[in-house]
Amino acid sequence: MCYAIPGKVESVEAQMVVVDYFGEKKKARNELPNLAVGDYVYAQGGYVITKVSKQEAEESLSGWKELFFSLKDTDDQLVFFAPENSAVDRRVARIVKEVSQGKEISPDELKYLIQLSDESQLDILFKSANFLRHKYHGNACCVHGIIEISNNCRKQCGYCGISIYNRQLKRYRMSKPEIIAAVEEAVNKYGFKALILQSGEGAYSVAELADIIKQIKQDFSVLIFISFGEIGQQGLAELYQAGARGLLMRFETSNPDLYRKIHPGQELDSRLEEIRQAYQMGYLIITGALIGLPAQTDNDIINDILLARTLNAEMFSFGPFIAHAQTPLAAAVPPAEEKVLKVLAAARFAAAREAKILVTTGFETLSSRARQKGLVSGGNSVMLNVTPLRYRGFYAIYPNRAHESETVPEQIDETVKLLKSLGRAPTDLGVGVVKQKEASKL
Ligand code: 5AD
Repeated sequence: MCYAIPGKVESVEAQMVVVDYFGEKKKARNELPNLAVGDYVYAQGGYVITKVSKQEAEESLSGWKELFFSLKDTDDQLVFFAPENSAVDRRVARIVKEVSQGKEISPDELKYLIQLSDESQLDILFKSANFLRHKYHGNACCVHGIIEISNNCRKQCGYCGISIYNRQLKRYRMSKPEIIAAVEEAVNKYGFKALILQSGEGAYSVAELADIIKQIKQDFSVLIFISFGEIGQQGLAELYQAGARGLLMRFETSNPDLYRKIHPGQELDSRLEEIRQAYQMGYLIITGALIGLPAQTDNDIINDILLARTLNAEMFSFGPFIAHAQTPLAAAVPPAEEKVLKVLAAARFAAAREAKILVTTGFETLSSRARQKGLVSGGNSVMLNVTPLRYRGFYAIYPNRAHESETVPEQIDETVKLLKSLGRAPTDLGVGVVKQKEASKL
């Protein structure tokens, strides 16, 4: 099972290489020594991950070639839609046109989109978001894996089921050999090229994490995203040094007062500072917020979307807040499916070309058709849970998480089937946010 297709190196210039995928050119950053024109590589998130032999590449590509173009055809057909001619909503039509021409959407326009409620207008909104996804990102769909290595947490986030509030939860903390075994299975058996390692905050020391990441980078060809809560500038630097290249950290809400209310003793600014520092160090950033927090307004959500863009997110992660019984916010009501879809679509308008948009597991928990709907409303990324099944149920950030008891092959089958039906290639062709603007000039 392949999550990235090999590409052929066309040119090498300092740390940047141009990679050819059946005639499509993409730029990627290279850290491998001795990479030469004509070599075959796998790239993920804008990074060259590994070199592959010509024979392996040709075998994989011959299997892919037909599929590569037929998936594109399916996507092209499904997206066939001319928003500028839409008589249903002239304002949406004008916004799509302007965003397609490279203009930034204004906060007012975002608010207009988020507050649409008429069914035919919503249909136009979602189709337009899909149109923009197709225009700027083609049919590639990221399929990253996530391994939740420990549910120990020192934080008291008011919404989170693994916070210190939950005294009933059985805690686990995977050992280094367990983590390496899980990574080995994900990379070598299932073909994942990008993995997120996640835990509650403070579950491991930075030194332990650095040791684990170094070992992973030594043994496997994989892009590693870290998601261990706030580890400080020094911690970020050490894990970058160890080989991590991505950070998944939501800011949860852009409203400082709301942030303070749900994170006692914490300030939004320090979290944002950490995300900014990570970006400066060279980390790829996945960030976003919770949708449907108590007292959250539409203006807050618009600011959330704009903030994710300001933070240079290469992937937006926006998902519904789902109340957990063992938390102070146990009584909260989750947002409507339609609301979440509107946020994903609006995010696509706000970061039309810059960002991938994740359809989260939280959203899938809220609605069984979320993945399909999200992917045709601006989304182009999913994460599969590759945490060992014996631990999965204990990572209870919210109850009854989707895919909680599905094996990895079951999740892969289901995902590949869906992506095929939508004409999406389960591959990241290697364009990170910084490189994207340059790549579009190619
Ligand atoms: N509902 C939805 N998402 C949650 N998270 C934590 N608790 C909940 C909840 N009750 C999300 C947070 C965090 C991520 C790891 O899990 O946004 O960043």
